[in-house]
Amino acid sequence: GIKAVIFDLDGVIVSTDEYHYKAWKSISDKENINFDRTINNRLRGVSRAESLEIILEKANKEYTQEEKEVLLEEKNNVYKKLLTNLSSSEILEGVNEVIDYLKSNNIKVAIGSSSKNTSLILEKIGLSNTFDEIADGTMITKSKPDPQVFILAANKLGVSEKDCLVVEDAEAGVEAALNGNMKVAAVGDAIKCNKATFNLDKLIKLTDIVKKNN
Ligand code: BG6
Ligand code: MG
Repeated sequence: GIKAVIFDLDGVIVSTDEYHYKAWKSISDKENINFDRTINNRLRGVSRAESLEIILEKANKEYTQEEKEVLLEEKNNVYKKLLTNLSSSEILEGVNEVIDYLKSNNIKVAIGSSSKNTSLILEKIGLSNTFDEIADGTMITKSKPDPQVFILAANKLGVSEKDCLVVEDAEAGVEAALNGNMKVAAVGDAIKCNKATFNLDKLIKLTDIVKKNN
């Protein structure tokens, strides 16, 4: 059955995936590196440092570790500036309804995100006290597709991996859930990779999946 649902954050709970794209676009434009939405889709779920490595595949020069550190800091500064006015209005469609449904059916809810900005974002969108547990980028050493962040969430919840359902918009995240022996529902961009247990064109359909599997 499904005893817990672990949600990715960026691109599943809130539209901050678009701000990650904009921040990376501004850095790559300044560095004269070709970057577009196709490349951006490869960054979904991937840590900040690993995202930079993917972007630098298109660079015309080698970057030193020091130069990379500067770019990482700049990216996060641009990103955080874009988050200044972030509010609950950017919570994605169906999120509040699905969480209410899960809670009223005694199914635990957690966040499993690679982002080190998770606490800040949850606070800005008013969901700081909504989730039973949070596992985020500040608590892990291995980024998706490694299952570490989801296993941490499951352990914190005290729920066995096989009873967890992950919700993901990233191919790396779908793989991470499967690598952790969890079921996974793909939303948004992750539907394309067709690896998930379930593909949801609308998040609200998660309620049907929970009904059928319990
Ligand atoms: C993931 C995003 O949730 O978090 C990635 O999908 C991002 O795009 C990663 O790189 C790390 O985020 P942050 O906020 O720590 O830079
Ligand atoms: Mg995501």
